[in-house]
Amino acid sequence: MYYNKEIWVASAGDKKISILPKMANRHGLIAGATGTGKTITLKVMAESFSDCGVPVFLADVKGDLAGMCKPGVDSEDMQKRIEKFGLAEAGFEYEEYPTCYWDIYGKAGIPLRTTITEMGPTLLARLMDLNGTQSDILQVVFKIADDDGLLLLDTKDLKAMLQYVYENSKEYSAVYGNMAKQSIAAIIRAVVALEEAGGDQFFGEPALNIRDWFSTGAGGKGTINILDCQSLINSPMMYSTFMLWMMSELFETLPEAGDAEKPRMIFFFDEAHLLFEDAPKALLQKIEQVVKLIRSKGVGIYFITQNPSDIPNDVLAQLGNKVQHALHAYTPAERKKVKAAAESFRENPEFDTMETITSLGIGEALVSFLDEEGRPGVVEISKILPPKSLMGPIDEATRARMIEENMLYIRYNDNVDRDSAYELLTKRVAQEEEALQEAKEEALKAKEEEKQRKLEEKEAERKRKQEEKEAEREAKKKKTAVKRVAKTATGTIGREIGNTIGKSIGGTFGKKLGGNIGAALGRGILDTLFRF
Ligand SMILES: Nc1ncnc2c1ncn2[C@@H]1O[C@H](COP(=O)(O)OP(=O)(O)OP(=O)(O)O)[C@@H](O)[C@H]1O
Ligand SMILES: [Mg+2]
Repeated sequence: MYYNKEIWVASAGDKKISILPKMANRHGLIAGATGTGKTITLKVMAESFSDCGVPVFLADVKGDLAGMCKPGVDSEDMQKRIEKFGLAEAGFEYEEYPTCYWDIYGKAGIPLRTTITEMGPTLLARLMDLNGTQSDILQVVFKIADDDGLLLLDTKDLKAMLQYVYENSKEYSAVYGNMAKQSIAAIIRAVVALEEAGGDQFFGEPALNIRDWFSTGAGGKGTINILDCQSLINSPMMYSTFMLWMMSELFETLPEAGDAEKPRMIFFFDEAHLLFEDAPKALLQKIEQVVKLIRSKGVGIYFITQNPSDIPNDVLAQLGNKVQHALHAYTPAERKKVKAAAESFRENPEFDTMETITSLGIGEALVSFLDEEGRPGVVEISKILPPKSLMGPIDEATRARMIEENMLYIRYNDNVDRDSAYELLTKRVAQEEEALQEAKEEALKAKEEEKQRKLEEKEAERKRKQEEKEAEREAKKKKTAVKRVAKTATGTIGREIGNTIGKSIGGTFGKKLGGNIGAALGRGILDTLFRF
């Protein structure tokens, strides 16, 4: 609980063990074997931060954190705890907290969405488990979309973009470097698998404006944003990538805060081991970097996991506020891990840290928080306070009511599908097909016209020849007719002359001779006539 301007989490005898609000952005760790009390510790911390006016984000992996919207229920056990901790004097009351439920599937909370662009190629490649080559291609596809001014909002956009690059891979490879068609096809298949795992719901608009987490409720209490992860945790890769995206989003969105009196927000990351399992080196470096730098933005990250060894040393070294619940040490490997956990604390001369870790009861923990100077406090065997709100889940009707009554429900509930890469590329492909069809039709028309022109030429040539022939024939005909006329004429003229000559010679001989001479003379006259 928030007491004396400190986040009071546990007590070691009469000593209150509290996180100083100004040191809360130095991150933290809640570790311990299953059932030892990690979730309750998280709940107590989250409530206290809320009381202090700091908004909180947490992942509810089992649904047992949902009860924070209702006050706790009194019991004999609770009364004992209240008395043991002296909580009544400190003003402990069962209380409800301002909560906002989120769910990437949009069922157990307000739909939490982001766009493909905001997720970025690095995290998407991780989400889809792409190999190095495929990841590089995805980076290039993002660059192409950027260069072409195409928005990548949902998985439909990403698929359309990949399909377009696939179909024009030769042209794009020439500009952006080689992209094998098989690799692009493999990425498309991965996007389909991502859609089936819920990516079609998570990616889209309205995308989450992370500033909507920074609100306060009644009495100035910080809002507790609860992401329901009961379904999401079934895809560990998806769960861890989304959590990492949210962390990065906070990091990128928030301005520098400097040394503030209290953090801007506290982010609890349950099942944190999933983030680091099989993570490629580049991603681990990114996580380390975000954890290191996000503190200056006023955000504290608290990792919850079974064993501190689940977290890489470089990250672990940055977690200043630690709660270590009981660990088992049955095997040599477990003993080694317990030893490492014990050695990470500033020793308390009054007890053996390693031995104590294995003998802690439920709700008990070894606790060390940072002091005013940022030094780790001496480790203390502590009992964690009981929470003020309801422990455990809530019924469906309460959840539904809480979701619908939230002001953010109207803003985020309905998916909006504005024009983006998918729509534009569909249009572009249709236009290209239309242009292709038009070009084909043009070519066909030109071919037809050429054919027609040739036919007409042929016909004209044929006509010309025919006319020529006819003219020739006509000319011939004319000639023959003249000849015939001439023949007749020479005959007549000749006969006339011959008769005249014959008559003067006398007898048959005279007639014949006269005829022949007449004919010859007639021809001679006609030839002379024709020459003029
Ligand atoms: N500080 C506490 N005050 C009251 N009860 C507690 C406290 N811590 C733990 N308990 C009891 O122990 C139970 C188990 O605790 P919790 O659910 O926090 O364990 P866990 O470490 O989160 O387990 P898991 O690893 O399975 O998630 C709780 O349901 C509660 O009954
Ligand atoms: Mg738990």
